[in-house]
Amino acid sequence: MKTVTTIKEIRTVVERWRRNRKTIAFVPTLGALHEGHLALIRAARQAGDRLVVSIFVNPKQFGPGEDFERYPREPKRDARLAAAEKVDVLFSPGAEEMYPPDFDTAVVVQKQLTQTLCGASRPGHFEGVATVVAKLFNLVRPQRAFFGQKDYQQFLVVKRLAADLNTGCEIVMLPTVREADGLAKSSRNAYLTPEERASAPAVYQALKLAEGMLQVGERNPKEVIEAVRKRLRAEPKMEVEYIATKHAGTLEDLNILAGTVLVAVAVKLGATRLIDNVLVDVSTGS
Ligand code: PAJ
Repeated sequence: MKTVTTIKEIRTVVERWRRNRKTIAFVPTLGALHEGHLALIRAARQAGDRLVVSIFVNPKQFGPGEDFERYPREPKRDARLAAAEKVDVLFSPGAEEMYPPDFDTAVVVQKQLTQTLCGASRPGHFEGVATVVAKLFNLVRPQRAFFGQKDYQQFLVVKRLAADLNTGCEIVMLPTVREADGLAKSSRNAYLTPEERASAPAVYQALKLAEGMLQVGERNPKEVIEAVRKRLRAEPKMEVEYIATKHAGTLEDLNILAGTVLVAVAVKLGATRLIDNVLVDVSTGS
């Protein structure tokens, strides 16, 4: 595996591959790799002749007062894990390489996809994500890029920008990888105290409760949201940021749950923000 840190180097490698008609698969990450990332990397390994993983803690997608400074950085461990998965190139630029002092462009996915859920509680977050992903796609020029369902709204935003900017890149989503007790794997789980960690699986339990209600025919979003809220209220340290049911394609609210429904939750557990979701197909329900 080759590790490159400059734009010049990644361009040189990618240009050579493209001259030789190699297809390129890509997994962008913030690093601190875990099994969720590794699932994407393994799928991507099968999906192209060459595989690039990027590790870049993107300052533009963290708001003021968020965890940019304390976000876990484990470059040596990440490089070891990536090499073991036969990644061809690990691209890990510094912030000054991606954003020189005169940098002055933003990529904005404008409407519903970025206005709701995490977009409502983290202003500027999806602009930061869209801007860095567009830059990375321009550098890596992948035919396929892999994203996790855990960040479902991000997947939709990236799919939108990839199509709108004519990247020619297919965006592939893979299911959320979980701990044995259901907690979605996340680099941020490392922040949890033992007490918080014990209460964290309630998020997935509440989502499974919602899924069960939809599967037995509940179609009223208020009932579903209230049941999730009640389950989360049982966790004394958990503060709900949002509980929502949405049309899975547009993220619009539904008066009557139908089609593929996204049930999404964001909570604060002490200083740590956790998100999770389930997709439920209710098109053939009773
Ligand atoms: P990061 O949080 O490192 O996640 C990188 C990719 O791994 C994303 O597509 C995310 O959805 C996926 N992922 C994270 N946890 C997962 C899990 N438990 N199961 C399956 N997939 C999981 O998301 C980002 O980085 C950044 O916003 C990025 C896209 C790199 C842009 O900076």
